[in-house]
Amino acid sequence: MQVDLPQLGQLDTRARLAALGTQWLGCDYHYMAVVDSTNRWLSERAEALDGDEPPTGALVLADQQTKGRGRRGRSWISPPEQNLYFSFLLRPRCNPSSLPPLSLAAAVAIARGLTPHLGAAPVVKWPNDLLWRRKKLAGILVEVASSERQLRHVVVGVGINVNQAEFAPEIAALATSVRLATGREVVRHEVLGSVLAAFEQCLEQVLAGTTEPMLDAWMGLADWIGRSLTVNTVSGSIHGEALGVDADGALRLRLADGTVERVLAGDVDMNG
Ligand code: BTN
Repeated sequence: MQVDLPQLGQLDTRARLAALGTQWLGCDYHYMAVVDSTNRWLSERAEALDGDEPPTGALVLADQQTKGRGRRGRSWISPPEQNLYFSFLLRPRCNPSSLPPLSLAAAVAIARGLTPHLGAAPVVKWPNDLLWRRKKLAGILVEVASSERQLRHVVVGVGINVNQAEFAPEIAALATSVRLATGREVVRHEVLGSVLAAFEQCLEQVLAGTTEPMLDAWMGLADWIGRSLTVNTVSGSIHGEALGVDADGALRLRLADGTVERVLAGDVDMNG
């Protein structure tokens, strides 16, 4: 069925899931022409409502964000009518310390969902960017709400540059889109459907506790493993050979003295 992003919200649940090609992701769907941040909106809604509302799989999508959030306090510039900005809610039944590697699963899902539109798989960059020819195509922001040892919910936010043809001067050298990669405009709800269908498969696997295939899939998309790189962290830069990621999402680096260091957070500089 051919439906546009706002129209998906007017369908009943069964028709919407059929249009998206999913079983549960998008069961509850909220479209907004403009919002500050879909992550902020969904987290606040989850905190404001009682019990299990909104449910696992609730999805919020906006055409434009005025304060899109990126990792490490950065912003995600979100102009209208071009790209995909969405967030969905998960309620994993586990404590925060045993949360499965959702960021890794998200990166694999987006890569799989974008591959048919790009004609080849994008590259994953640690911790969870999607690159095309070294330029950023998509980003993921996973935000966990927990109190003491109780996990309340997780919001997974995704920004995909779909049809954007020009970027602000400060990011023009670093960003790309599906359109720039292929030379063709793509239909946003088709990209959304293929990405969400891939998300469901990847999430079901990791939420069921099967993480090894997801780690292997992630590393299969990381063509820079084995190379030397620098990771900039809050406590300084670390240089070493990239060995891969582990189930906690940590990057494993072999340092010059032969020791292996696990890096939990930072930004990778691929140029050595
Ligand atoms: C990053 O690479 O820094 C993560 C970017 C995540 C952006 C998406 S857009 C939809 C969702 N809502 C937000 O405010 N951020 C995420």
